[in-house]
Amino acid sequence: MTGPHPGQGGAAESGTDRSGMRSGTVWQIRTDADLVELRRVVRERSARSGMSLIEQTKFMTAASELARNTLVHGGGGQVEIIELRRAGTDAEERGVRLVFTDQGPGIADVAQAMTAGYTSGGGLGLGLGGARRLVEDFRLHTTPGSGTTVVIASWARAGRPSRGAALHTLHDSDQGGIGARW
Ligand SMILES: Nc1ncnc2c1ncn2[C@@H]1O[C@H](COP(=O)(O)OP(=O)(O)O)[C@@H](O)[C@H]1O
Ligand SMILES: [Mg+2]
Repeated sequence: MTGPHPGQGGAAESGTDRSGMRSGTVWQIRTDADLVELRRVVRERSARSGMSLIEQTKFMTAASELARNTLVHGGGGQVEIIELRRAGTDAEERGVRLVFTDQGPGIADVAQAMTAGYTSGGGLGLGLGGARRLVEDFRLHTTPGSGTTVVIASWARAGRPSRGAALHTLHDSDQGGIGARW
């Protein structure tokens, strides 16, 4: 990152939008160095939200692929990083949302672009589809000729039972029983 100025890479001020919601920090994506720095920042925000190391790595890997697409295919753009909070069953839950935006050529065939192995040139074609599998929420909006926006979000599982842990509450009388499931 070259400095805290929009258009030069790095972060712009975060602030409050008209609806009173706190908006996120905006990072410009213009150079390879911006990608490196963005990975660091996403890792840091993910850790702060309480994500486990594995959750952080999944989210950061998805972010890294999407940021590279913004740079390579979108001709550069920006990402807004938003820290999320919501009421959970017995504790507040935290997460991170990233909004990647570019004013590049857009994607004419989204289904094709999402297909594993498809690349319009030079890549492995695993970025978009891979990113979708690594996050809890994935949205893509694109307009050929005017640009692409991809939004991803994941939540920390801290304080919530994992699916594996939930198995301990099963009784033998439950459908199939534990033995039948494993
Ligand atoms: N931000 C973007 N703007 C325009 N096209 C994009 C963008 N992101 C992805 N694409 C298109 O989707 C294709 C698949 O993306 P991806 O799975 O990341 O593969 P790769 O980047 O290796 O080509 C790209 O080759 C490109 O044609
Ligand atoms: Mg890619």
